This record gives sequence, structure tokens and C-alpha cells, in this order.
Amino acid sequence: MNIPNHIAIILDGNGRWAKAKGMPRSYGHVKGCANLETICDDMKELGVKYLTVYAFSTENWKRSRGEVEGLMKLFRNYLKKCIKISEKNKMKVKIIGDVTAFDEDIQQKIRELEEFSKDYTELHFQIALNYGSRDEIVRGMRRMAEDAAQGRLRPEEIEEETIGNYLDTAGIPDPDLLIRTSGEQRLSNFLLWQLAYTEFYFTDVPWPDFNKAELLRAIDTYNHRDRRYGGVKEE
Ligand code: IPE
Ligand code: IPE
Ligand code: MG
Repeated sequence: MNIPNHIAIILDGNGRWAKAKGMPRSYGHVKGCANLETICDDMKELGVKYLTVYAFSTENWKRSRGEVEGLMKLFRNYLKKCIKISEKNKMKVKIIGDVTAFDEDIQQKIRELEEFSKDYTELHFQIALNYGSRDEIVRGMRRMAEDAAQGRLRPEEIEEETIGNYLDTAGIPDPDLLIRTSGEQRLSNFLLWQLAYTEFYFTDVPWPDFNKAELLRAIDTYNHRDRRYGGVKEE
């Protein structure tokens, strides 16, 4: 089996999963967060080199105050716990998104986690927090315009690679496979630039129930895709 080098996942369906069990949405987030730990182990075991997950979007602030507060509490716990997980899996953790919107203690935990794990190379784990692809592009293009205005970058030097280097994912290869759980078939503002040639896999399974067997099913489907990149495959 050909294992994708980079898998991206839109972790969706925590709320519906909990509701179906007569439980509050927050319970779904707790279970979803626990599942993230398991899936990291599975990815490492399978030899996936890059994993990027969408955990909180720039639009998710529109959720009820209670839900947002619950999520922040969960992030605090998880970011702390993730130091141990990164050590266990030898994984380098990077947060993508605009972290300046978070409380200072959360930003501090992010810095500590990134610093602690920066030399690991087994698995590169990107967590998208307060991430929106359009927001990422706006932030990146502002920096690029600033560099041009300061004479550090000439407009004619701008290539596709240049733009990639101004995004939060600079240096990270594009995803080979995108998985979205829980039935919705949209990107919800995730990695618009980076997913240009990625294979998409949608499953009805809600995120808290997404396990290794489901992951293998996604990878198997990916293996039956005919990736072309605009060319024609040799017979
Ligand atoms: C995904 O689950 C987690 C976050 C967006 C934080 P949802 O909370 O979107 O769950 P559903 O889609 O409402 O079921
Ligand atoms: C996308 O899920 C964002 C995350 C999984 C973090 P949403 O549940 O917020 O997306 P929509 O609202 O269904 O498009
Ligand atoms: Mg959702």
C-alpha cells in the first residue's frame, strides 16, 4: 500500500456525534480531542510523515460563548498534554492560523510545545487553530507587500513558491490526501492554496468514531485514484 506523505483532516461531527447520544456538544469535543491522540499514533505507525488537522476555524468564534469557552479549556489541556505525545511519537508540532487571537497563556503553551518538539522528525503534526485559508492568505500577502515596499522583494521575482513561502505552511509539502469526516462535502476555508492537487475523501463517520480501520479505508481509496497533475499517465 502506498502511504500518503501528507494527510490533512477536517475533524468534523463532534457536536452531532454527542447529540445523537443525548449528550452536550462539549462531550463530543472531549471525545474528538482524545481521538486526535489515537490518530497521531496510527499515523506514526503507518509511516505518514505529515499530518495537518483542522481543529478551530476563524469562523468558529461564532459558536455560543459556552462552546467556545469549552474549546479553549480543551486546547489548554491538550497543548500541555501534547508535549508528552510529541516526545512519545517523536513528532514536531506546529500550530497554523492566527494565534494572536488567543489568550496569552494559550499562546505561551503553543510556544512551549513548538519549542519542545522542534527537532523531532518522525511525524510533522500541524494543528490549525483560529485558521482560515483566506485569513492566512491576507496575512501572508500583507507581509509580502511590506517586503516589496521595503525593497526586499521585487514583483517580477514572485513565483508560486514565493507565495507558498508566505503562508503558515511554508516548508511543508502540500497534502496528498484530504479527509473530511461526518458527511459535509466542503472545504470550510481550509488550505485553499495547498489543496490544489490533493485527493479528497469524504466519509459519513463522525470524527469521534474515526479510527484506524477508517483511516486504512481512506488510504485504500486513495491508492485506487489516478493522480495525473494535468498530464497523461504512461500506459
Ligand atoms: C468539529 O465538530 C470541531 C470543531 C469545529 C471545533 P463540530 O463542532 O463542527 O461538530 P458538528 O459539525 O456540529 O457535528
Ligand atoms: C470546519 O468545520 C472547521 C473545523 C473542523 C475546525 P465546521 O463544522 O466549523 O464547518 P461548517 O460550518 O460546517 O462549514
Ligand atoms: Mg461541524
